[in-house]
Amino acid sequence: MDNVLEIENITKEFPGVKALKGVSFEVKRGEVHALVGENGAGKSTLMKILSGVYTPTTGKIRLDGKEVIFNDPKQAQQLGVSIIHQEFSLIPYLSSVDNIFLGREKKGANRLLDRKKMRKEAEEVLQRLNANIDLNKPVAHLSVANQQFIEIAKAIAIDTKVLIFDEPTASLTGKEIDKLFELIEKLKADGVTIIYISHHLDEILHMCDRMTCLRDGEWVGTREVKDVSKQDIVKMMVGREIVNVFPEKPTGNGKAEILLDVKRLHNKSVADIQFSLKKGEIIGIAGLVGSGRTETVRALIGADPAQEKDVYINGQKVDIKNPTDALSHGIALIPESRKTQGLVLNMTIKNNISLPILKDLSSFLGLINKKKEDGVIEKSIQDLLIKTPSSQQLVKNLSGGNQQKVVLAKWLNTDCKILIFDEPTRGIDIGAKEEIYKLMRNLADKGLSIIMISSELPEILGMSDRVLVMHKGRIKAEINGTETTSEKVMYYATGGGDV
Ligand SMILES: Nc1ncnc2c1ncn2[C@@H]1O[C@H](COP(=O)(O)OP(=O)(O)OP(=O)(O)O)[C@@H](O)[C@H]1O
Ligand SMILES: [Mg+2]
Repeated sequence: MDNVLEIENITKEFPGVKALKGVSFEVKRGEVHALVGENGAGKSTLMKILSGVYTPTTGKIRLDGKEVIFNDPKQAQQLGVSIIHQEFSLIPYLSSVDNIFLGREKKGANRLLDRKKMRKEAEEVLQRLNANIDLNKPVAHLSVANQQFIEIAKAIAIDTKVLIFDEPTASLTGKEIDKLFELIEKLKADGVTIIYISHHLDEILHMCDRMTCLRDGEWVGTREVKDVSKQDIVKMMVGREIVNVFPEKPTGNGKAEILLDVKRLHNKSVADIQFSLKKGEIIGIAGLVGSGRTETVRALIGADPAQEKDVYINGQKVDIKNPTDALSHGIALIPESRKTQGLVLNMTIKNNISLPILKDLSSFLGLINKKKEDGVIEKSIQDLLIKTPSSQQLVKNLSGGNQQKVVLAKWLNTDCKILIFDEPTRGIDIGAKEEIYKLMRNLADKGLSIIMISSELPEILGMSDRVLVMHKGRIKAEINGTETTSEKVMYYATGGGDV
């Protein structure tokens, strides 16, 4: 096999950050090449260079043996390199068709937009993807998974030699991931070369031919995937072995008192929800995308309306009308979408983290205790391994995984009694996951109660003292942490047990 891409001694500097320090490796024609590394290792930056989003500070790229310099993504696309970004780049208020053809609209003989033709082509592409999506809706109204498919459709609607996926499965689950894998197989059979970034090492072992690892902006190695184990990849990534990412579960907290008692919760998305949460307990909510997990907690905290809601905290009935009420009762929801719900991207790390705790940081005159603030921020950066030159860095300049860590830090410092995490470790590397799990368990040991929605079964199994499994808006099963198996969870999550 010959090389489709040769990356030679690429460096990239941002103010205060050397994101890439002389990276070289080759990508063979027709292979699926994985790119792995910790959060902030430089993966997205390198791929943005390959796809014309950034120009390298120094170094060369050869495509089909010829040196290329891409001034913008359009040029890269024309020469055959396309990228599906980690952060979506869709225009929310435009329809799917308009998004797919953005910047390369089809015009008819009368030079007007040929909507029919664009629609037909969009339909064909989505058919290739096996995706059934309402093309008329603005993409903002589509599910995250469908937005992802539109993003993919946008890239494969163009003839491409090299297609880069930057963490494509972060927002997909089960069937959708299978669909994506099928698509990648198909593209590969058509001769397209794929570069695949993921923190899911199983996917890499399953799908990829070769892999390259970056650490701290440097190339660590390129290997045949068949020659490496999961442990080998982890070791290349973090420089040490990780045997068990999950902290030990406490035994015997079954006797703890009930803190939150949801006796009834009912709205247009969820039905007959009933569960309780003990002090110091971690409950996992499992289920497929669309099973009502996020809807349940949103209804609970008053972010969505509920027709019926009967909720008690410490035995007292509470009336939670909106998320502010929830906060005043000590309940915080850490949302799944960091970009739209969790962060102010144009603010610094420091300001993002101190925002919800300003009251605690201020004296009675309203002055912020700077020293205390700095202490809290520095501790968060250390605890969560946030990779940044300083706390003054703008959040938008952080890598995807490090942005997610700021979301977590923001809420871990509040004095809430009940923390609800929605997909807390999405996009986070395995080393940092270990730290986050430890932090969560420490909080629970201190008496906080945690509800964790997760699509990652290992995380559900490894962290939960109790698991609720949802299907079609209802809780189908409640399983004790020690008795949870992936088979049981999947059985109920896919509708098993229904009469
Ligand atoms: N526009 C920018 N300005 C300043 N620094 C940046 C910018 N983009 C990236 N960086 C920094 O470059 C480094 C590499 O970031 P990059 O996004 O490539 O990491 P990554 O490997 O994709 O991580 P993740 O797994 O979290 O997505 C990080 O330290 C990041 O903060
Ligand atoms: Mg990235």
